[in-house]
Amino acid sequence: MNQGKRVGIVGAGNVGATVAYSLAMLGSCHEIILRDNKIDVAKGKALDMSQAASAVRSHTVVKVAEDMSDLTDCDVVVVTAGSPRLPGMSRDDLLMINANITKEVIKGIAKYSPNAIIIMVSNPLDAMTYVALKESGFDRSRVIGMAGILDSSRMASFIQEKLGYGGGQIRASVMGGHGDDMVPLPRYSTVAGVPLTDVLTDTEIDEIVQRTRHGGAEIVSFLKTGSAYYAPAKSTAIMVEAILKDTKQIHPCAVYLDGEYGYSNVVSGVPVMLGANGAEKIIEVTLDDKEKEMFAKSCASVQSLINTLNQNNFFQGE
Ligand code: 2OP
Repeated sequence: MNQGKRVGIVGAGNVGATVAYSLAMLGSCHEIILRDNKIDVAKGKALDMSQAASAVRSHTVVKVAEDMSDLTDCDVVVVTAGSPRLPGMSRDDLLMINANITKEVIKGIAKYSPNAIIIMVSNPLDAMTYVALKESGFDRSRVIGMAGILDSSRMASFIQEKLGYGGGQIRASVMGGHGDDMVPLPRYSTVAGVPLTDVLTDTEIDEIVQRTRHGGAEIVSFLKTGSAYYAPAKSTAIMVEAILKDTKQIHPCAVYLDGEYGYSNVVSGVPVMLGANGAEKIIEVTLDDKEKEMFAKSCASVQSLINTLNQNNFFQGE
């Protein structure tokens, strides 16, 4: 039990609210503070979740911050706020809209919860993690993006579906950015320690890789008006728990690279040790030439978004 721990969640939509619900059910923290522009909706969800927490005898209380200035002294703040892509909107339009939302939110977090660890969930994920890092001025260990746990879980679930066995014993590995260029790594994926390459054909593995890359879009195609939230939220809650409980577990997370894997000034998904101080260690996995090429392509995609922000003078005057 982590008595006294306080988690802020900015954006109480499907993802943010489900993160809060997961944490409340686990009793991971003492208080969860929801912040959303739709204050009454946030209040309703907070009451509902506090009551659910009581039902499972969890001590977690869910509250609402009516203003960013109420989001004080959080140990961890999860940021899910952002606009979805609307018809007629380019990827760059979405980038600028969400970068501006992120900038405002992060300024508030840096002011009112200056010791927090920030977990970014808003898309485009890697670029928003970069924005959060630059706008907060925090050490890179305290600004971490959620995507790798989600993408790896999707891959594990597709492996299980393809195999028809191995549930709960599959460890799938995905690196790189959270986009079409993500880097699923079958060579580092196993079923109870058995390499994937020993139990599936190349064609089957390739189908899993492609499905993983488009795992988010597959769900959007069914939901029509929104995107996934159970797996994104659970993946986020796993990160929050690892930090609050100082587990030192390794998870794939989006972090700012400063020479690791040969890249700098870019955010990408890599295995990270999570603990009380955030991303306490970045693990460098050996990649073969093909994997390096895919990782390079993924980093280049994120870099091009950062370039667009720079071309629009996003970081100027700070
Ligand atoms: C997902 O992959 C939309 O990034 C979100 O489901």
